[in-house]
Amino acid sequence: MQLLDGKLTSNTLKDEIAKEVSKVLAQGGKKPHLAAILVGSNGASETYVNAKVKACEKVGFDSTLVRMSEDVSEEELLNEVRKINENPAIDGLIVQLPLPKHISEIKVTETIVPEKDVDGFHPVNLGRMTLNLPTFLPATPAGIVELLDRYDIETSGKHCVVIGRSHIVGSPMSILMARNAKVGNCTVTLTHSRTTNLEEISRSADILIVALGKPEFVTADMVKEGAVIVDVGITRVKSDKTKSGWKLKGDVAFDEVAPKCSFITPVPGGVGPMTIASLLKNTLISARGK
Ligand code: GUN
Repeated sequence: MQLLDGKLTSNTLKDEIAKEVSKVLAQGGKKPHLAAILVGSNGASETYVNAKVKACEKVGFDSTLVRMSEDVSEEELLNEVRKINENPAIDGLIVQLPLPKHISEIKVTETIVPEKDVDGFHPVNLGRMTLNLPTFLPATPAGIVELLDRYDIETSGKHCVVIGRSHIVGSPMSILMARNAKVGNCTVTLTHSRTTNLEEISRSADILIVALGKPEFVTADMVKEGAVIVDVGITRVKSDKTKSGWKLKGDVAFDEVAPKCSFITPVPGGVGPMTIASLLKNTLISARGK
């Protein structure tokens, strides 16, 4: 079994991005600039957004973090998005999800101009992705593709099973793995809460991508010998063994599954850091396009 080390790979990617930024600056260009909007104070969202801002600093980007209170109106949030849309100094905009119940995520997503939608969530960008046209790919699926690519994992003709059909991960992931591309050409099965025979389908996967947000859902009996496992789950669970009182758990029972597979992502240090590196890559592409 070999680890798919997202931390190491994302550091390589970030070094490449930082070099690119230095080159642009040396030629008199400007720093790429990412704006993030964080609504409320959800602990996990706070952690993710802070990590994104820190990563911007690391590669030499400018960043702007806009914090809005939990009870902000939908219109106020949409106005902030429109303001950033029109600000020529900003190349990319993300609104951290989930949003409070009274705000429509799709309305917010559709208000971000596709040219600054570095999350790749706008219907125009998702449509372009589906047609295999150049676009901003959603950061988590793009990070997984990059990780599989950098470890030279053969995907062509393989059976890829995706567990979870979220708009952010599972659904775009299934489309990317089926595309005619270097990492792609898989026969894909997208499974979800209404799937029957999930265990059996999962056991037939050469590549298993798990993104449903249930800690240790995938057990050893659901995995084929020699499979490649990508664990997108990252849930805080209580622990009396850590100082903080909690620890992070993936959707895969790592200790029992790891000995059975050829490659596996750890949690943390697998998919998470790759997501951030992909977001930076999209922001660099957006800045270059100007
Ligand atoms: N919440 C969980 N993942 C993501 C992501 O990739 N982008 C945004 N904006 N919110 C998220």
